[in-house]
Amino acid sequence: MAAVAVLAAGCGGGGIESPATPRDGKTVFTEYCGACHTLSAAGADGGAGPNLDDLKPERETVAAQVRDGGGGMPAFSNKLSAAEIDAVADFVASTTR
Ligand code: HEC
Repeated sequence: MAAVAVLAAGCGGGGIESPATPRDGKTVFTEYCGACHTLSAAGADGGAGPNLDDLKPERETVAAQVRDGGGGMPAFSNKLSAAEIDAVADFVASTTR
């Protein structure tokens, strides 16, 4: 068991690009979304995009919009990992209902 743990830990340092632990949804929102969107659960009051407190988007809508962008919003698939996109979609969908 100990050898397995050491091996697993040894393999963790490979990705310089991606953090070892994905940032949680609220952190991602604060860093990447709050400048353009209002969402009270994140303390964000950006005004460039729709107010997400009012829009109450579905989880899949958020995930697709973040992945692909559109309508003046940039795509984030090159900045956020799939896990982080899932996390921010979960966060937005869970706080708006
Ligand atoms: C540079 C400003 C900007 C940033 C940063 C930004 N957005 Fe947007 N967002 C917009 C604009 C503008 C729209 C309106 C797009 C449209 O009308 O089609 C939008 C639309 C949306 C929608 C609505 C999609 C729909 O189909 O109704 C969601 C959900 C959303 N953004 C979530 C996010 C999340 C989550 C992040 C962070 C990862 C983010 N946005 C970052 C500007 C931004």
